[in-house]
Formats: sequence, C-alpha cells, structure tokens
Amino acid sequence: MKPDFSFYNFDVISSTNDKAREFAKEGKTNLVVVAERQEKGKGRFGRKWDSSFGGLYMTILLHVKDIDKSRYLTFIAAISVARAVRGISGLDAKVKWPNDVLVNGKKICGILTETVSGKENYALVGIGLNANQEKFPRGIGNKAASLKIQTNKNYGIKKISKLIIDEFDNLYSYYNKRNYGKIIGVWKKYSHTLGKRVKVKTLTGTYTGKAVDVDEECNLILRLNDGTMKMIVEGDIFVV
Ligand code: BTN
Repeated sequence: MKPDFSFYNFDVISSTNDKAREFAKEGKTNLVVVAERQEKGKGRFGRKWDSSFGGLYMTILLHVKDIDKSRYLTFIAAISVARAVRGISGLDAKVKWPNDVLVNGKKICGILTETVSGKENYALVGIGLNANQEKFPRGIGNKAASLKIQTNKNYGIKKISKLIIDEFDNLYSYYNKRNYGKIIGVWKKYSHTLGKRVKVKTLTGTYTGKAVDVDEECNLILRLNDGTMKMIVEGDIFVV
C-alpha cells in the first residue's frame, strides 16, 4: 500500500534528518520534513552539507521492517530526484553510485540515509538538492551545480519536494514488495557510473578500474586493471 505522506515545512532548522529522528522517537512516520535552510546540514562520512538558502533540504521518514535494506531507499531517492529534475527542468540528470545525482557531470544532489532502530525501526532518507543557489563555497564550487546555474531559472522548493515524493511513492511499492531487483534495474537506466573508468576511495584503500555492474545488494562491481573483480560496498568514486 502506498503511504500518504504529511509535509512539515520549516524556514530554518538544524538538520531535517535530526528533526525526522525526533518525529520517529515520538512514533510519527510517513512524513516529510522540508527546510529552506539548515544550520547543521550533514553529509556522508560526517561531512558538512552546505545548506544555505536556495537549496532544497528534505527528509523522508518511513517506518520500515527490513532496516538492513535501507540502501535500496537511497537508490529509490536518487532515481526519484533524477526523474523530478528531468521533469521540471529538462536536464539530463543521472545517478552516481552510491547516492548522488549529477547534471552534466556535476553534483546536484546528495542523499544521506540514516536509521533509527528499537522496538520499531525507521529510515530517514535525507535529500539535499541544489535548486536556486547561484554559487557555492570555495572547494565545492567546481564540482557542484544547481538547477539555477544550469538553466538560469528559479524553481519552487515546495513544488520540487512534492514531485520527488510522487516519484518516491511509485518506486516505494517495489521496496515494500521486496522487489529489489526491479529497483536496481531502474537505477541502472539512469546510471552515470556504469561503463566508466573510476577511482574508488574506501575506508580501507583506493582502487582504480572499470565500473562494470551494480549487484543485487547495491554494491559496485569494479574490474581492476589486473582483470580481477572487486566488490565495493561503500566509498566515494571519481571518474578518471
Ligand atoms: C552527501 O552527499 O554527503 C549527502 C548529503 C545529504 C544532505 C541532506 S540535506 C537534507 C538532509 N539533512 C541533512 O542534514 N542531510 C541531508
């Protein structure tokens, strides 16, 4: 069954993921926290997420049974953002393993999925989409893009958040039916990563090779330069 999501809109908030965590602890679920700015926006691996006015910051809070399958929710979110961006702007948005959306090779969106476990389990799917920003801080400026920079138009934050949720709602039925193969299949259609030579930085090492596949568990399969296959569970990738 499709969940009916309630929206909670804020002007400024510490982090939409943290707000969603508070809601989860109150037993609330099937909701979306949206903010116009975050004071403590979080990225992967404890990084800071630039959260100035103009971007879209949202977290989808879901009550989940299979907490160990939350990687599929990240994939679903990335596909949903790519589809919403394509629909609203006409840009050729692609998904980059494991949880980014790119436009013209630049990052337009990052996703941070966290979980809350206890008597009940919850997933917090945090989405940061660069919408109306005109510039970025030094250091990320050459790697990041926004819808505004790419199209010279402004976009309604609430409208985009609703479009993303419409797409997410459709794909979420595959997750509920544990049809994970279908999620991977759809993700591959939008893939920026597969077929490219990449460098992968993981917590244990750096690997270079061709990204040949994403398996049923969302892992990236690399063919290393010596021909051996390497399964990557987590890391950052760079096209070389
Ligand atoms: C990444 O690429 O490192 C993931 C970035 C995720 C940022 C979003 S913005 C909304 C939500 N709230 C947060 O604090 N982080 C996520």
